Amino acid sequence: TDRYAVIGNPIEHSKSPMIHQAFAEQTGETLSYGRLLGHLDDFEADVRRFFAGGGQGLNVTVPFKERAWALADERTPRAESAGAVNTLIRLADGRLRGDNTDGAGLVRDLTVNHGYLLSGCRVLLLGAGGASKGVVRPLLECGPEQLVIANRTAAKARQLATALQSLGPVQGCGLDELEGGEYDLIINGTAAGLQGAVPPIPDNILTPGGWIYDMLYANEPTAFVRWGKAHRAGKALDGLGMLVEQAAESFFLWRGVRPDTGPVMAQLRA
Ligand code: ATR
Repeated sequence: TDRYAVIGNPIEHSKSPMIHQAFAEQTGETLSYGRLLGHLDDFEADVRRFFAGGGQGLNVTVPFKERAWALADERTPRAESAGAVNTLIRLADGRLRGDNTDGAGLVRDLTVNHGYLLSGCRVLLLGAGGASKGVVRPLLECGPEQLVIANRTAAKARQLATALQSLGPVQGCGLDELEGGEYDLIINGTAAGLQGAVPPIPDNILTPGGWIYDMLYANEPTAFVRWGKAHRAGKALDGLGMLVEQAAESFFLWRGVRPDTGPVMAQLRA
């Protein structure tokens, strides 16, 4: 049986095994998918051991995505732009290819599952950490009119925008520079939600009927989803769809089969 796993630290709460097992059942693919607790001081050895033991692919999660990027023998353009790898693929010659499916998962959830048209939109991305870095390139590839990255620490947003400016109309700024702007879609990639908080943004920043998307998800509506509803967003989505879609994209890279994500999302919501 082909072996796959997700590696992270902590790892016990990861939903990836459940998601990939559901995909495997649904598509009739024979594989196993487990959980690996990565050692903070020896992640690289954990990965080598997994692949030396016959593993075919790994998902990588917090806090190892940057180390997986460094460890990969080759990287896809989207992993290169993200500076992070969430999917490792063992090639026929044993080398490891690093990819990043997070941004594709976000875009697919927005556009395919919810029918959002990103082309021509003014998009605001909150945060300039790992979560935001992973999605900038795929968002720009959808042809927005404008992508503004706003971060508490403005310099980080500016740096990220500058690094990717050849890919499209992207700018960086501080959260305190948003006054007066209006956006069709606001995506939250900050960690503020982990404390139940919302990044400080102006009240009138969402265009009437505009959408918000929180990359975070929880069993209850997240703080940013509640912010969206309170500000009359056309839709206020959390990151469950992104989670399942990034998994489906990894599954596709490994198996060449695209699972139907709908039933798995319904199962996770239930
Ligand atoms: P991750 O890899 O999960 O994105 P990270 O790299 O630590 O985590 O980034 C966290 C992001 O959330 C950063 O953009 C951070 O802003 P700073 O760069 O200024 O630190 C942002 N963030 C965290 N807590 C926040 C808060 N309470 N309000 C606004 N932004 C916050």
